[in-house]
Amino acid sequence: MSDAEHWDRRYLAEGPTPRQKVGPPEVFAAHAHAFPTTGFALDIACGQGRTAVWLAERGMAVHGVDVSAVAIAHAAAAARDRRVAGRCRFEVADLDGGLPAGPPADVIVCHLFRDERLDAALVTRLAPGGLLAIAALSEVGAAPGRFRVRAGELTTAFAALDVVAAGEGSGTAWLMGRRPASC
Ligand SMILES: C[S@@+](CC[C@H](N)C(=O)[O-])C[C@H]1O[C@@H](n2cnc3c(N)ncnc32)[C@H](O)[C@@H]1O
Repeated sequence: MSDAEHWDRRYLAEGPTPRQKVGPPEVFAAHAHAFPTTGFALDIACGQGRTAVWLAERGMAVHGVDVSAVAIAHAAAAARDRRVAGRCRFEVADLDGGLPAGPPADVIVCHLFRDERLDAALVTRLAPGGLLAIAALSEVGAAPGRFRVRAGELTTAFAALDVVAAGEGSGTAWLMGRRPASC
């Protein structure tokens, strides 16, 4: 089964994200103030748009991409429901083919999706001073697994960024980092 089929089935079974779930992922919630409120946001593997719609509500123009057409339809519906559709563009895209084209981003969100082939492109897509907020399943505090990052993997992969905050444990690793002007 392809990624798209797997995730379409899952989102059809789950149904749309409840209205009250729009907001930052829990792992970034304590640092929500660090997310910009203007400019351009890219949310990769955006799922049903819970973070993308939150960023649009804060004032950003948002491009959300995901391989699941069901997730993208739910994300677009959530944006209409919250009256921010005019600031949102949701697109079905397979990140196996790389990042979609677009302008430099003031924030890139990558929550619970990991493809190390995208690491360099994520850094170069950030505008100077732009923020990457990335979280992945981790082997730290959990059994090793195919989709889990190794201890220290995110901090090594994004060593070019100035770390705003980072953490690892209980099966999750996360990092928020800014692209320095000189990078
Ligand atoms: C665990 S979910 C996280 C969704 C969202 N970021 C969130 O926090 O709610 C992983 C997401 O990755 C998407 N995905 C998986 N493989 C992908 C691919 N090759 N290209 C784009 N999206 C993909 C899935 O459709 C799913 O929405």
